[in-house]
Amino acid sequence: MHSIKLVKQKLLVQIEVDPNPREVLKSVELKKLYSEIANLPPKQRGPYGKSINELKLSLESAVAEREAAMEDMSVEPIDVTAPFDVNSSLSDLLPTENGSQHPLTRELENVIDIFTRMGFDAIESRQIDDDEHMFSMLNFPENHPARDGFDTFRTEEGFIPPAHTSTMQNRILRAGKARLESGGNIAAVSCGRVFRNEDIDATHEHTFHQYEGVFVSDSATLGQMLGTLRSFFETYYGQKLKIKTQPAYFPFVEPGLEFAIERPAALGGKDGQWLEMLGCGMIHPNVLRAADIDPEKYRGFAWGGGIERLVMLKYGIEDIRHFESGKLAFLRKFA
Ligand code: PHE
Repeated sequence: MHSIKLVKQKLLVQIEVDPNPREVLKSVELKKLYSEIANLPPKQRGPYGKSINELKLSLESAVAEREAAMEDMSVEPIDVTAPFDVNSSLSDLLPTENGSQHPLTRELENVIDIFTRMGFDAIESRQIDDDEHMFSMLNFPENHPARDGFDTFRTEEGFIPPAHTSTMQNRILRAGKARLESGGNIAAVSCGRVFRNEDIDATHEHTFHQYEGVFVSDSATLGQMLGTLRSFFETYYGQKLKIKTQPAYFPFVEPGLEFAIERPAALGGKDGQWLEMLGCGMIHPNVLRAADIDPEKYRGFAWGGGIERLVMLKYGIEDIRHFESGKLAFLRKFA
């Protein structure tokens, strides 16, 4: 009798944990208990057989209980790599709203479109660069205070997330040198993200975008540059504009200018409200030299301006921080 109790305890535990509890009913221990009946004195056989039968019944009901519990717990398979619930129906998965391009992406394409139709090549500006391209090749003397004007981030290794797209000028000039020397021009715009370590407010972001033009020929003039810029702005805003320039200092141009447009009435402007749109000028001889281009034979002009500023004026956006905010209410306005 004692052994029946022990076997019962052991098998009940097995039924609880075995992944296939019904198999426990076929266990050797149980068979052994049956086989012992024959060895008992005839008087004890009856009660002993009865006890084994009771044991068998309670084991069977334990198995049935465990099987029922296992069925309850059975879960649908989960595909953890699926970007949606695999059990949802197809109609739940289809988007209820169409996505749209980010306004900056769309306007950047617009800007590139205007310049490429004028004959400029378009390239993307780098997002990580070095001191040589960001400063030295652009005629910033070593330790010159002008470097401080660019609020530049640096990585621990000494790389620079560029603070302006001018970081591409030397590459553009080198790549175009052969074309220049075989009688052609260099004409390229580089566009991309730039980074400045400055305080953020409605008109300043640490991350923004610039478009930069570089043009070199044997006879480039400031007048050509102003004509190119006027034509760009009038095409972009779809109307005639008043423009003006004033002197500005950038080490990589001489003379250097700030280029402004009068805020058009159609875009909420009053007479005499000037908006500074970009920096520009004739490429400094040292910048041409850094790209192995002879400044005695060739001259060029360059400009660089912020894309956010362009777009804000076009759509009356009052805060530059909207662009990187990811706010759907803002983005939907451009859908
Ligand atoms: N890189 C200058 C800036 O970010 C703009 C500029 C570009 C000025 C090219 C002159 C020529 O402020």
